[in-house]
Amino acid sequence: MIEKSARRRPETVSAVPADQLALSEALTFDDVLLVPQYSEIRPREADLSTRLTKKIGLKIPVLSAAMDTVTEAEMAIKLALHGGLGVIHKNNLAAEQASLVQQVKRFENGFIQNPVTLGPEDSLAQAHEIRTRLGYKKIPIVDQDGKFLGLLTEKDYFASDGLTGLVKNHMRPKTGVHTRPISVTLKEANEIIRRERIEVLPVLDREGRLTSIVTRSDLEKNEEYPNASKDERKRLRVGAAVGVGAEALTRAKLLAEAGVDVVAVDVAHGHSRGVAEMVSQLKQALPQVEVIGGNVASRAGAKLLASAGADAVKVGVGPGSICSTRVVAGIGVPQLTAVQEAVAGVRETGKDIPVIADGGIRSSGDIVKALAAGAETVMLGRLFAGTEEAPGLLESVGEHRYKVYRGMGSYEAMSQGSGDRYGHDQQSSSEVSAEGVVGRVPYAGSMVPRLKELLGGIRAGCAYNGAKHLGDLPARAQFVKITGAGLQESHPHSISRE
Ligand code: XMP
Repeated sequence: MIEKSARRRPETVSAVPADQLALSEALTFDDVLLVPQYSEIRPREADLSTRLTKKIGLKIPVLSAAMDTVTEAEMAIKLALHGGLGVIHKNNLAAEQASLVQQVKRFENGFIQNPVTLGPEDSLAQAHEIRTRLGYKKIPIVDQDGKFLGLLTEKDYFASDGLTGLVKNHMRPKTGVHTRPISVTLKEANEIIRRERIEVLPVLDREGRLTSIVTRSDLEKNEEYPNASKDERKRLRVGAAVGVGAEALTRAKLLAEAGVDVVAVDVAHGHSRGVAEMVSQLKQALPQVEVIGGNVASRAGAKLLASAGADAVKVGVGPGSICSTRVVAGIGVPQLTAVQEAVAGVRETGKDIPVIADGGIRSSGDIVKALAAGAETVMLGRLFAGTEEAPGLLESVGEHRYKVYRGMGSYEAMSQGSGDRYGHDQQSSSEVSAEGVVGRVPYAGSMVPRLKELLGGIRAGCAYNGAKHLGDLPARAQFVKITGAGLQESHPHSISRE
């Protein structure tokens, strides 16, 4: 029997104020187009450099998503070489994430600090393992005090007694190796490498301890990638995601020790006390590291994180291709409006920090719209997920090849730790609603041609807007809202493409 009181309606039912019934309009990429503007520039003249944060400039406005099917070291290295930046996911142990950061920071160093070394008593099998896992073919050999003893190269031991021997019996002793003191400049080191036709130049301190190496392959890479995103020490730049709370702070400290340039507090609901507090704690604890706060989808959310001290604010609640937050929780703001609102929110705080448009981008046209709406960079998941550089194995279905792409809020990803992004602790992950799905995307080969295609589209967008620099886009852009018929007209139509 139902108790009478349980069925009783409240005595007074307050009417919903009329102004709350008037819903505001929110638009996304497909709802709008950009009207062509008078222009004097051609696509190739467009300058795509931009800001990730106030202190970190990038040559292109592209980031890769902090997802376990998108960004680990390989993706971060490739993207940084081409002028963007990868944000390494956090679905791993803190030490593993820090080691991925280290791999990026060690890549293409002018001087590779703390190179991987072996001792004289180590086995050739260990050398081979380093070769297989990290790809290093020349390994400096040092004693217990770090003093340089010689160099082991694959050539020196491969033809020998298999992998059973000891390093000391196969290495080239230091008397036969070119080395230089710590005072050597990068230019001099590179000249020696060229002149002496050597692969690796060990750099030693006064006591003969190994401090760094310079390699020929880095020299070549230096020349190949003039747009690479690099720090003051010429190391590639990289970002990494963290959550909130004490564990996240410890993780961030480890990442900072590994040399991370920027940490992203990556939480589905960034308009929250936890994220704001985390942003300010990180700024205090690690002043040398830039901090991105997110994700938000409103003016107030962006204001909160900007005021908390974020160096950039990341925007996107539910626009992602693998997101189901909007279906599951009924929450989100169509991404174009979310970006515009966030930009306005940051501006209201008086802080000059950039906004990142994260999620929902399917084409270069969407990128141009996001940038025209005021974002200074975009974060891509789906567009990079099928590429060679994304983590994960290839799957074959019939004649077609695919890679798995999954939301960090999917059950599968949450069971590996990402539940905290959605406010769940580890134990409860199987008892909560997933806010993401698992899917497959066609294998796309290297990410480089895809990236170049996107950059070509952004340049075209700049030219149509008469914007020589990306920063000029928002002021020149004129959005028009379109109808379903306009959208249909916008895509190739009325032809056969077989
Ligand atoms: P795209 O559209 O580029 O989006 O594939 C990538 C972005 O989506 C976010 N993300 C999620 N959002 N549930 C969500 O609601 C999820 O499971 C999920 N996983 C990733 C994230 O911001 C990413 O950069």
